[in-house]
Amino acid sequence: MNLPKLREAFAGDFLIGAAVNVRTIESQQKLLADQYNSITAENEMKFELVHPDEDRYTFEQADRIAAFAREHGMKLRGHTLVWHNQTPNWVFEQGDGAADHDTLLARMRGHIQTVVGRYKSDVYCWDVVNEVIADEGPELLRSSKWLEITGESFIAKAFEYAHEADPNALLFYNDYNETNPAKREKIFKLVQSLLAQGTPIHGIGLQGHWNLYGPPIDEIREAFERYASLGLKLQITELDLSMFAFDDRRTDLTAPTAEMLELQAERYEEIFRLFREYRDVLTSVTFWGAADDYTWLDYFPVRERKNWPMLFDANHQPKEAYWRVLRAAGAE
Ligand code: G3I
Repeated sequence: MNLPKLREAFAGDFLIGAAVNVRTIESQQKLLADQYNSITAENEMKFELVHPDEDRYTFEQADRIAAFAREHGMKLRGHTLVWHNQTPNWVFEQGDGAADHDTLLARMRGHIQTVVGRYKSDVYCWDVVNEVIADEGPELLRSSKWLEITGESFIAKAFEYAHEADPNALLFYNDYNETNPAKREKIFKLVQSLLAQGTPIHGIGLQGHWNLYGPPIDEIREAFERYASLGLKLQITELDLSMFAFDDRRTDLTAPTAEMLELQAERYEEIFRLFREYRDVLTSVTFWGAADDYTWLDYFPVRERKNWPMLFDANHQPKEAYWRVLRAAGAE
């Protein structure tokens, strides 16, 4: 069956992306090439994967993903340069103790120059800083080694170094729980203060790890309004709609029910209608995967519990959600 292509249906609106890894660029190759016009490496460009030791870079896997994007004429998002997670210990250590402020910033600069420099002609847009906002409580920033050692200066510096390495790249701040009103205001405040300092930042990435039951559509709208008021571009960077509510730890389901598939389709249609309303500021919508045969949600928050968050099923066949997203593409 020759299916309509999402990338064509939304061509006048925004890019349609998928997270890939070195396995799925093989196993999902046809689906990816057919339906999507942008990819993001799920893990392969992260610090611990490309820079495991101070004097050793390992670019083989990231290079394969960059080559895949080139071969298929796809855009490539870079993910991610500075994060509290998937960063090797050596970055924060020196002798028997912790690295000092200047050493850590010099390492960060070296890493960013090398990685951003290498993919200058491939990556058009980087998630420079990922998930530094605290989820709860009065603190603005999450505690991390970066924060402990450098104070908050690492955030602006990361953007400056990335801009220095590739003045043409679009530089994004990326986070999750991004529509939650309290966290939204903290993200807004951080980005507003970066802009006030003259930091080269061009956009906010809303990860979009949502589910069948939330967040409410009005909350997503409010987040778009608030972030867009900063005058920046927005991208949905890691979209998936889990079949399970956030605190649902059930493990007995071996297939999604008809009700779940219908609810997922309704949710997807509703959010894509909203995305189209914001197409002037929203430049890309990337799913965190492509089809239900592989999703990080099979391992989180419960290991080895199957989930079905994508538009295509495990055999790469379209789900009801796919047709409803296409319907939203035609909506005026
Ligand atoms: O590399 C090992 C492998 O050797 C081992 O056999 C395997 C067994 O579990 O684990 C492999 O490492 C896993 C790695 O993904 C590569 O597959 C880690 O355990 C696992 O924790 C890691 O998960 C990734 C996660 O980030 C780490 O925090 C997910 O694949 C990836 O989808 C996820 O992506 C993040 C975004 O970068 C940022 N936003 C949230 C999003 C979802 O958590």
